[in-house]
Amino acid sequence: MRIDIITILPELMRSPFEASIMKRAIEKGLVEVHFHNLRDYTKNKQKSVDDYQFGGGAGMVMMIQPIDDCITHLKSQRQYDEVIYMTPDGETLNQKMANTMSMYENIIILCGHYKGVDQRVRDHFITKEISIGDYVLSGGEIGAIVLCDALIRLIPGVLSDETSALTDSFQDNLLSGPIYTRPADYKGWKVPEVLTSGHFAKIEQWREEKAFEHTKNRRPDLLEES
Ligand code: ADE
Repeated sequence: MRIDIITILPELMRSPFEASIMKRAIEKGLVEVHFHNLRDYTKNKQKSVDDYQFGGGAGMVMMIQPIDDCITHLKSQRQYDEVIYMTPDGETLNQKMANTMSMYENIIILCGHYKGVDQRVRDHFITKEISIGDYVLSGGEIGAIVLCDALIRLIPGVLSDETSALTDSFQDNLLSGPIYTRPADYKGWKVPEVLTSGHFAKIEQWREEKAFEHTKNRRPDLLEES
């Protein structure tokens, strides 16, 4: 998979890709992440990427020209499955969307700033608009990092068996239940006996029950969805 990220803050974005699972995925050659500084595509001396709103109103708007030039340049090199715009009024990211997108070959992610982008960018270039939740961030960069993390860990070969995504919360519309490690008794706080029984069928059944119970308590809406 290849991810092209268009941003005015590439320096803000680099470090999450230089650690842990995303770093390993890049090193293994399972994903390529390229940052494109939108200011490199400006045609004015000040390298500004924003301008005042037509009709007045508070807040600047990201101009179409640098975004057009950057996206058009990228699209001249390869085909993209999706051109994504990170915005609080997009579709809220969930595990199902992450599963689908993890199978894509090439995606572009455009990070918004200020009041957002000129509507013509959305009308003519963007194929999908994504929000990471009902709150407003200062820009799309952190949302883009969240999206990349959610996708990259799902690419086959990125996670080892021990860290497999198959048992994650949300993967089957259930939250994961409680988990324990050694010691089996810590200051009298004991691990549920079934887990140390060695009886695998019983352990599996216990885990399913606990996952169901936890989901019912915390996110009953997930049970209604399935
Ligand atoms: N940009 C600003 N807020 C955002 C959000 N909640 N999700 C994605 N991009 C954003």
